Amino acid sequence: MRCRMCGQRAVLRLKAYNINLCQECLKKFVRRRVQKAIRDYRLLKRDDRVLVAVSGGKDSLSLWDLLQGLGYRTKGLYIHLGIGEYSDRSERAVLEFARQRNLEVHIERVRDHFDGLGIPELSRLDHRPPCSLCGMIKRYLMNKVAYEGGWTLATGHNLDDEAAALLGNVLDWKEGYLARQSPRLEPREGFAARVKPLVLCSEREMAAYAISSGIQYILEECPFSHGATSLLYKDLLNQLEEHSPGSKLRFYQNFLKIAHLFRTEQVQLTPCQNCGYPTTGDLCNFCRLKERLSR
Ligand code: AMP
Ligand code: FES
Ligand code: ZN
Repeated sequence: MRCRMCGQRAVLRLKAYNINLCQECLKKFVRRRVQKAIRDYRLLKRDDRVLVAVSGGKDSLSLWDLLQGLGYRTKGLYIHLGIGEYSDRSERAVLEFARQRNLEVHIERVRDHFDGLGIPELSRLDHRPPCSLCGMIKRYLMNKVAYEGGWTLATGHNLDDEAAALLGNVLDWKEGYLARQSPRLEPREGFAARVKPLVLCSEREMAAYAISSGIQYILEECPFSHGATSLLYKDLLNQLEEHSPGSKLRFYQNFLKIAHLFRTEQVQLTPCQNCGYPTTGDLCNFCRLKERLSR
């Protein structure tokens, strides 16, 4: 098996593109896919300051590596969720990555916002599944840090993540979610700009990129992620991909061409009475959780 680009021994076959690539050319290939996403979907301007949300996993650390390599001004944001050893190990991976490259990281700790409680305790006290609570808290803190610092927030969602989310949204025809499922969300009052530069790169391509680049990421998944429906959707899409290479990319890219059809009037938001961030009610979900816990 020879690399399509340089003729050296190939290490990866990408059926969706009908090519074989060696390690070095795979890295170039992923970099070009990221540049293509940035260009096609107008994700970033040259002088944007980018806050990269890093979980310690392969996607977000590779994203940081890629954006830094492409010459963007970046800073990392790690949210320590208080999920036992898993959170501590992830934090160490992020700090080590930043130290080796002399990059700056901002760390937010869920415990600092909720009287020493992490996601598992909050989930028990609030009788809510850890993942929904965790998603809400992560979104709130990411946006707050990015908004207050004037950063554009970048996350490591890859093609598999976005295609699985799209499948879920289409199965239930969630129009509101479909309207907002975009690789770029524009900034507005109370909201930082949000971008997903890895949307044209598959999970497999990102794993190969991280390994080829010597990135020491954490392999371990969050202990609460078992049995998540998103994993079932990813599996189904992979079966489809096996049968018909390129279908995942087509499903997602063709959706983006018609995504504007789902965009209607934006819901009217007002400032949260406690923190001032936009919400549909009197208090935002983050402050409502705080209030429930204080009772
Ligand atoms: P997930 O929802 O876990 O698939 O993560 C999607 C993206 O959210 C990742 O690629 C990261 O950019 C970001 N992210 C997830 N967990 C964290 C965390 N603990 N701290 C900072 N960013 C995170
Ligand atoms: Fe948030 Fe698993 S519950 S990462
Ligand atoms: Zn609030």
